[in-house]
Amino acid sequence: MDLSTNYMGLQLKHPIVVSACPLSETLDGIKLLEDSGASAVVMFSLFEEQIRNENEAFDSFLQSGADSFAESLNYFPQIGDTDKGPEQYLNLLTKAVAATDIPIIASLNGISKEGWIDYARQIQQAGASALELNVYHIPTDIEQSGVEVEQRYIDILKSVKSSVTIPVAIKLSPFFSSTGNFAKRLDEAGVDGLVLFNRFYQPDFNLDTLKVDPRAVLSSAEEIRVPLLWVAVLHGRIQASLAASRGVQSATEIVKYLLAGADTVMVASALMKHGPQYLQVLLDELNDWLNARGYASVNEVRGKMSHLNAANPDAFERVNYIKTLEYASSFRWDRFVS
Ligand SMILES: Cc1cc2nc3c(=O)[nH]c(=O)nc-3n(C[C@H](O)[C@H](O)[C@H](O)COP(=O)(O)O)c2cc1C
Repeated sequence: MDLSTNYMGLQLKHPIVVSACPLSETLDGIKLLEDSGASAVVMFSLFEEQIRNENEAFDSFLQSGADSFAESLNYFPQIGDTDKGPEQYLNLLTKAVAATDIPIIASLNGISKEGWIDYARQIQQAGASALELNVYHIPTDIEQSGVEVEQRYIDILKSVKSSVTIPVAIKLSPFFSSTGNFAKRLDEAGVDGLVLFNRFYQPDFNLDTLKVDPRAVLSSAEEIRVPLLWVAVLHGRIQASLAASRGVQSATEIVKYLLAGADTVMVASALMKHGPQYLQVLLDELNDWLNARGYASVNEVRGKMSHLNAANPDAFERVNYIKTLEYASSFRWDRFVS
């Protein structure tokens, strides 16, 4: 069975890639992911706040002497442990590249271009095979238009692309008014891959404390539906590679994403739940599914159910929504009426 796939010019032995998550926070963790069968690993993100934190601390140190060093650190939110700052990130990346034979993709998470450019270059020098940008911007400023939000992504992409030669992917949120058109604009601006989608932070309220509850919840298989739609719509229409991300719990979701047209399928939550060794289960299940149906390669199934290849493309559109409503209207409401 030929499971090989091409992602942004990287030749991978199969399409299952580990997406950014704490499993890549240590060298042992990254080695375990490789030993468990990952075809590539996207490292956890280096956050813009950590870069700014370090730059601010350094500037302050130069201008006012060592006394203000500790104080200046307080201006910025403390993101995680101090052993995950930019220097440590680059060190880990260098070691991971040396210790493994699979592509290591670095990840930068932020909202502005300042500070990223330098680190993008250093990430390339450290040997990363590619860079993933997670532009994690929640436009809570209601004066900010959709055009401005999109332009921010384009500007960041162009700045980063002009400073590195390794492939650059952008991890998107699904919340754009015209997701397909925005993907096309990013494609025209030179993006090498789109990761569809990020799991956006969705705050909850704690009713006991009346505080915002920032808990991270692991994903479920239901979550594949939005990425599935957009992977299917974009397959074959843009140059950039497509990585499907969200909701993979078993090979069922992986096969669906491949049928939609994904070049790679990323997984985090399922590995956090079951451990890195679960990668082998996913691979075996994928193999079994392809074998049982007589396929000889992943390429044969890719995009078979995309919008372009669908026998009935209407199935992706309003007409199917109407069918869903028809199904809902056949529901027997009267059985609740006594
Ligand atoms: C605990 C945890 C930490 C994560 N950290 C990052 C991160 O540092 N950078 C990033 O881009 N995505 C991060 N993610 C998001 C994942 O990479 C992935 O996009 C998301 O969880 C959807 O995939 P899944 O359904 O397989 O979990 C994190 C997810 C989890 C669960």
